[in-house]
Amino acid sequence: MAKIKTKFVCQNCGYNTSKWQGKCPECQTWDSLVEELEQASKVTTGYLTANAAKPRKLIEVQVGSVERLPTGIAEFDRVLGGGIVPGSLVLLGGDPGVGKSTLVLDAGIKFSMAGQRVFYVSGEESEMQTKMRARRIGEAGSELFIMTETLLSNILLQAEQLQPQILVIDSIQTMYNEEIASSVGSVGQLRECTAKLLKFAKTSGIAVLIIGHVTKEGNIAGPKLLEHMVDVVLHFEGERSYSFRVLRALKNRFGTTDEAGIFAMTEQGLQEVPNPAALFLQERKQAVAGAVVTACLEGNRPLLVEFQALVAQTPFGMPRRTAVGFDYNRVNMLLAILDKRQGIDMGMQDAYINVVGGLKITETAADLAVIAALVSSFKNIEIEQDVLVLGEVGLTGEVRRVPHLAKRLKEAQAVGFKKFIVPAANLSEIGKMSGVFAVDNLEEALRKIFPRNR
Ligand code: TYD
Ligand code: MG
Repeated sequence: MAKIKTKFVCQNCGYNTSKWQGKCPECQTWDSLVEELEQASKVTTGYLTANAAKPRKLIEVQVGSVERLPTGIAEFDRVLGGGIVPGSLVLLGGDPGVGKSTLVLDAGIKFSMAGQRVFYVSGEESEMQTKMRARRIGEAGSELFIMTETLLSNILLQAEQLQPQILVIDSIQTMYNEEIASSVGSVGQLRECTAKLLKFAKTSGIAVLIIGHVTKEGNIAGPKLLEHMVDVVLHFEGERSYSFRVLRALKNRFGTTDEAGIFAMTEQGLQEVPNPAALFLQERKQAVAGAVVTACLEGNRPLLVEFQALVAQTPFGMPRRTAVGFDYNRVNMLLAILDKRQGIDMGMQDAYINVVGGLKITETAADLAVIAALVSSFKNIEIEQDVLVLGEVGLTGEVRRVPHLAKRLKEAQAVGFKKFIVPAANLSEIGKMSGVFAVDNLEEALRKIFPRNR
C-alpha cells in the first residue's frame, strides 16, 4: 500500500505545507493550518474518458418518489420532512447533555421495533451504558446493533458487513481516521471522517446520522464547517434546567427548514409534545405588573410565550440591562423608541427582560410584548391575563405586520385569550373575530393595552 501523505492547508488563503505551523506564513493568520489528506493526482492526459458523468437533459431525468424511513418519533419525522432518506448524511448538533444520544437511541429503538436494522456506534459510552440508557427508554427490537468504537475504518468495515438501514455515529468528535496524525476532535480529523462517511452513505445507500457537539460559541465545534458536506443539519436545543427541548432543521436538502419538533425530557427519555401551544403558560396564576403573553412561531406552530420585565431605579447612575431569551440589543433599541416616541424615559432605570420557560425568541413579532412588559413594570400597572400582544415595532414607533397572524390568534383563542392587540396592517388576513384591536403605532397600542391608566 502506498504511504498516505498529508499536508497542512491554511483555511484562510489555501497555502499548504508539510509541517504544522502556528501562523500561516502567507496570510499571517494564526492557527489556521489544518491537516488534510493529500490526493495523488492520477489524471495525466487532462480529460477523463470512460465512465465519467455526462450531461443530460433535465426534462429527461426521471424522479422516483423519495422513499423515506420514518423514525417512528412523529416530532423527529416532522423536522426531517417525513423521515430519513436512504443514502443521506444527517448531522445532529447540540450542546453536550441536551439529549442527542437519547433522541437518536430512541429513534433507533423505534426503528428496530419496526423491523429495520440499525447500527449505533458510540465513541463515548460503553455498550453497557448504552444498554442502560436504552432500558430507560423502552423495549428494543432484535435488529438494533451497538458497538463502542472510535476507529472509523473498522466502523465502516463492520457497517458494510452488517448492512443496516441506518448507521449512527455518536459523536463525530470522538472518531479517528488513522491516515491523519492530527488528534481526535481536531478540524482535520472531523473533516476527513465526515468525508469518508459521506462517501460511504452515497455508495452504500445507507443513511448515516452523525451526532456533533456544539461549542459555547454556537458553532458545532468544527461541525459548522461540516454543514456544507451533509444533506441535513439538525439542531437540538434547550436549557439544561428546563425539561423541554426543541429540534430544528437548519438545512434540509429533502424538505423545508421551517418545522420544529418539541420534546420534554423525562425519566423515561424524551417524550413528544404534540400540542405545545400553552405549554409555557402553566404557571400563570394572576395578573402581575411586568408580565404579558405573546404568540411566537416555533416552526409552523404557534407557541404562547410569557415575557416578563423588571424595571427598577438604578442605584449607581449606571443603568443595567439584561435580556434572557431575547436579543439584548433589541431591548435597548425598544427602550430608545419608547423614550423618543412616547416620552417614557427609562434612562435611569435598570431593565431586565426574561422569556419564561428558558425559551429563546428571535422573532421581531415579540417587540410589542417586550415594550408592553417594560411599560407595565415601569408604571406598575398589570396587564389583564386574557390579553395577547403581537407586533413588530419600527424605529418611528409604527407597529408593523407579523407573519401568520391568523394562525397565532386561533391558538391563543383556543386556550382562552379574549383581547388581542394586533398590527392594523395584518387586519385583512383574519376573518371576523371578536376582541381584536388593530393598532398602527405605539401610542395606540399602549392605549389599548393599558385602557384605564394612561
Ligand atoms: P444525552 O442524550 O446523554 O445528551 P447528549 O448526548 O446530547 O450529550 O442526555 C443527557 C441528559 O439527559 C442526562 O443528563 C440525563 C438526561 N436523561 C433523562 O432525563 N432521562 C432519560 O431517560 C435519559 C436517557 C437521559
Ligand atoms: Mg451523547
